[in-house]
Amino acid sequence: MQLSKKQVGPFISKLQKIIDKKDIITDQNTIGPYLIDWVGNFHGNSPLMITPRNTEQISKIAKLCSTENIALVPQGGNTGSVAAGIPDGEIILSLRKMNKIIETNPNDYTITVQSGCILSEIHEAAKNVSRHFPLSIGSEGSCTIGGNISTNAGGISVLKYGNMRDLVLGIEVVLADGRVVNSLKRLRKDNTGYAIKHIFMGAEGTLGIITAASLRLFPKIENKVTGFASLKDLESTVKLLETLKEFAGDLLTSYELIPDIGLHIAKEFGDNITEPLSKREQWNVIVEFSDTKNNDNAHDIMQRALHRAIEVGSVIDAVIANSISQTNNIWKIRKAIVEHQPKLGGEIKHDVSVPISSVPEFIETTGNKLREFIPDVRPVPYGHIGDGNIHYNVCPPVNYPKILFDEKTTDIREIVYESVNSFGGSFAAEHGVGIIKKKQMIKYKDKVELEIMKDIKSLLDPKNIINPGKIL
Ligand code: MLT
Ligand code: ZN
Repeated sequence: MQLSKKQVGPFISKLQKIIDKKDIITDQNTIGPYLIDWVGNFHGNSPLMITPRNTEQISKIAKLCSTENIALVPQGGNTGSVAAGIPDGEIILSLRKMNKIIETNPNDYTITVQSGCILSEIHEAAKNVSRHFPLSIGSEGSCTIGGNISTNAGGISVLKYGNMRDLVLGIEVVLADGRVVNSLKRLRKDNTGYAIKHIFMGAEGTLGIITAASLRLFPKIENKVTGFASLKDLESTVKLLETLKEFAGDLLTSYELIPDIGLHIAKEFGDNITEPLSKREQWNVIVEFSDTKNNDNAHDIMQRALHRAIEVGSVIDAVIANSISQTNNIWKIRKAIVEHQPKLGGEIKHDVSVPISSVPEFIETTGNKLREFIPDVRPVPYGHIGDGNIHYNVCPPVNYPKILFDEKTTDIREIVYESVNSFGGSFAAEHGVGIIKKKQMIKYKDKVELEIMKDIKSLLDPKNIINPGKIL
């Protein structure tokens, strides 16, 4: 239930017995930025934002909300893409002040943190003890680890290190009734029945409030080598990936697709970007190796692998960055695609995945279907194809009226998701479901899985007070 205007005052009085006055915010100007999602499509509303500082407070708040039947929305850095952290009249429970690094254990290769820690601060803390925390996503300077866990975030290093789920050893979660699941263990092996921690990962804050986590660390990266290659055709994305894996094993950290339209966007709208190769081809990839040794090994292996790929004809041309500015330039292309794509007259975003070997056929087939629907439509498929995750975004033809294009959103989504489904793929690869993909959940999620999800939700949150209306 949402908090009515009349209830706000009495509820605040009760909250003040749990948290400090200054951690209770009612000023709408202050709350404003927390009501809009990262993409800017959703504008929510909330009478109240609270910013607790420890698990005990959150436990008491949950208990109070449960008793009073008041719904809340947990929010981290508010950088999600599916509006899972946006309230629709519920209280915002911001985890921002839960931002302590609890413990680093370089010998165990673990770090234990509160859930409001910013991802880049965890990177730094790991570096300070000569270790590496590998989750790497565009919003790492402002997203929080609790949000990363809640969405099972992916990013550009999944190929080597896995998703967020693979990086979590233990977790602490406050349930809707105030009970605390204390499973902050730092164990690699723990076969004591059901892996309860996993149901909270990817649950987008609907099953409980993640308050802390123990995370895996890895040896510090001493050397990164970044390359850019243009490919003969889409099929060659899979061939080059095989060659790279054969030559480099797990030195290979990132393998990101950049289409020619992505280069166009970067060049046209990006900040002083130079195209890495003299001739622009239709399909290109960014390749990154990371090595724990600071020598020429990774560079030499990348050079040999790319030479082989040119010999067998999968690669047309390639360059390996030989300075920090060249490396930055290559990654700036990747970032510019995300940032400037809407400038092509609008964009319809799809975060999808298919089996890695199906990526070329999926991209080709989906493009053809879209062009049958709107001739000259401009698909912008880019991203993490090394793990099968494509950001299959769609932009309108040149000079196409935006209103007309927006009207076709539902049909375009249908074409893309039907195609994804026909390849045995997922309509929500790394961003989650939130509000925007609830229809697809009903249509594409396995019926029995969906039933189990609903059963789990009503078991853990029978009054539906934690992030209601999301995912299910
Ligand atoms: C990325 O890979 O850069 C993001 O997931 C893209 C996005 O946020 O749409
Ligand atoms: Zn991504």
